[in-house]
Amino acid sequence: MFSAIAPRYDFLNRLLSAGRDRAWRREAVAATALPQGGRLLDVCTGTADMTLEAARQYPEARIVGVDFSRPMIALGTTKVERARLADRIQLQVAPAEALPYPDASFDAVTVAFGLRNVPNRRRGLREMCRVVRAGGRAVVLEFTTPPGRLFRGVYLWYFHRVLPCIGRLLSGHPSAYSYLPASVGDFPSPEGLAAWMRDAGFSGVSYRLLTGGIVAIHVGQK
Ligand SMILES: C[S@@+](CC[C@H](N)C(=O)[O-])C[C@H]1O[C@@H](n2cnc3c(N)ncnc32)[C@H](O)[C@@H]1O
Repeated sequence: MFSAIAPRYDFLNRLLSAGRDRAWRREAVAATALPQGGRLLDVCTGTADMTLEAARQYPEARIVGVDFSRPMIALGTTKVERARLADRIQLQVAPAEALPYPDASFDAVTVAFGLRNVPNRRRGLREMCRVVRAGGRAVVLEFTTPPGRLFRGVYLWYFHRVLPCIGRLLSGHPSAYSYLPASVGDFPSPEGLAAWMRDAGFSGVSYRLLTGGIVAIHVGQK
């Protein structure tokens, strides 16, 4: 599914989030507090927007992005080359549940709108914990359901009724943008995700909601 929608993925992100997705990624990357010259891993990197944002915020950092979809990685590679960042950003095809990196090999690890899609989410979190060094941070950016009753009503109407229609028309994929709200409904609450992160080995887990609670940024420390 992700490979099929890859060519229109960035355009639909901007359109369907009214441009907010860039700000959400910016906040998530800032939350890594990556040390000078640090190494960052972005899991489920898709078309590499998180890695490009990280390169912008941390000019000395070395960044790796992994995703199991080859077309997503191919598009990401083109963007990285166009930004002349191929010396600092490396992209690789790999599954989130079996990251091909040694223990403690990164200073921080991120996943943006990715964990929800990983079939074994808790295993994905354990892998993120394994590859980050002691004291390093994990940041999870993910959709959630707004807590405020009025805004939630309007948002859920948009998310379940409007977004799937626009997504179907513009992506050409019959179900990818119906899968999106369905998968958010199937994902734990912010409290539940914080508990999963603690179970995976992170401590001091906290989260904050953005844009009225459409998305949450969770941060934990190994
Ligand atoms: C919604 S996209 C998010 C992409 C990117 N992080 C962003 O911020 O736009 C989800 C990505 O997760 C990838 N993905 C899903 N399950 C995966 C898994 N088990 N291992 C690796 N990548 C996975 C998909 O190929 C897709 O590129």
